[in-house]
Amino acid sequence: MINSNDDPAFSALGLAAEKVEEILIKLMPKAVDLEQQVIDAMIYALMAGGKRIRPFLVMESARIFGVGESAALRVAAAVECVHTYSLIHDDLPCMDDDDMRRGQPSVHKKFNEATAVLAGDALLTLAFEILSDEKTHADARVRCELISFMARALGVNGMVGGQMFDLLAENQTLDKIRITRLQRMKTGALMVFSGEAGAILGKAETRRRHAIRGYAHDVGLAFQIADDLLDDGGSAAELGKATGKDAAAGKATLISLVGTDQARTKADMLTEQAVKHLEVFGGTAENLRNLAKFIINRAS
Ligand code: IPE
Ligand code: IPE
Ligand code: MG
Ligand code: MG
Ligand code: MG
Repeated sequence: MINSNDDPAFSALGLAAEKVEEILIKLMPKAVDLEQQVIDAMIYALMAGGKRIRPFLVMESARIFGVGESAALRVAAAVECVHTYSLIHDDLPCMDDDDMRRGQPSVHKKFNEATAVLAGDALLTLAFEILSDEKTHADARVRCELISFMARALGVNGMVGGQMFDLLAENQTLDKIRITRLQRMKTGALMVFSGEAGAILGKAETRRRHAIRGYAHDVGLAFQIADDLLDDGGSAAELGKATGKDAAAGKATLISLVGTDQARTKADMLTEQAVKHLEVFGGTAENLRNLAKFIINRAS
């Protein structure tokens, strides 16, 4: 759930979060024996109260393209599963080594490292199980496109590659082009999937699909800059995770290269650009306009 950022204009995000949490619980696998522990860890991580920005993006995009809510919610849930997997693994001692996530001990702290690895694996595979189910879309070609797009967004040319890049770039000075590429891969790719998923489900025409992709791309980059700014100057209590970690680890961020003022200016510019892409959708994209602003103004 959104916490300190829940301004009334943003009740739509809170409402979507509730619906996504409801379906996530329904989609959790059942177990009969010792494997229950991995399910407990999945639920622990999922239900700790993320902002549910990516699921909201899926749902709003789906709404714009005339997709029914039940299909949209399934894709939104799949996206939240893979996002949560990425957080569980990102926090492991061999990655960013973070003890707190979403305001509570990270999964490897609450359970153990093996359980955290397995819970991440299980969330990742569950997402593909959800997408491949007929309930997500009657047309197998649409399901296949979702699966293939998500796989590419998460793989070596997407999130996994970006995470590798992020770790290897510690204590290196990257230029702006490489930092942007790193962020596009580690965070941007899943945002683009989330935005474009509605267009895929709704079999949107190319021009409108490009518009939502442009929006999600710019918002994705702005999102990671905002995350880096919060790591630098935000409140750990509000964020539910430690701050000051990027500088301590020597992470290559825009802040490390150009400082906070220029990084903020860049995030603002990307947000303006993101909103411009929405013109073609008129009033139906109001929630996405608000989301873009929320992403750079959030405190958590
Ligand atoms: C944090 O993502 C991790 C990054 C990709 C930078 P969020 O800020 O969306 O985390 P939750 O889901 O709200 O916890
Ligand atoms: C995480 O980026 C990106 C992914 C999980 C793919 P960060 O390492 O900056 O996220 P936080 O700050 O730990 O949430
Ligand atoms: Mg990281
Ligand atoms: Mg991290
Ligand atoms: Mg961060």
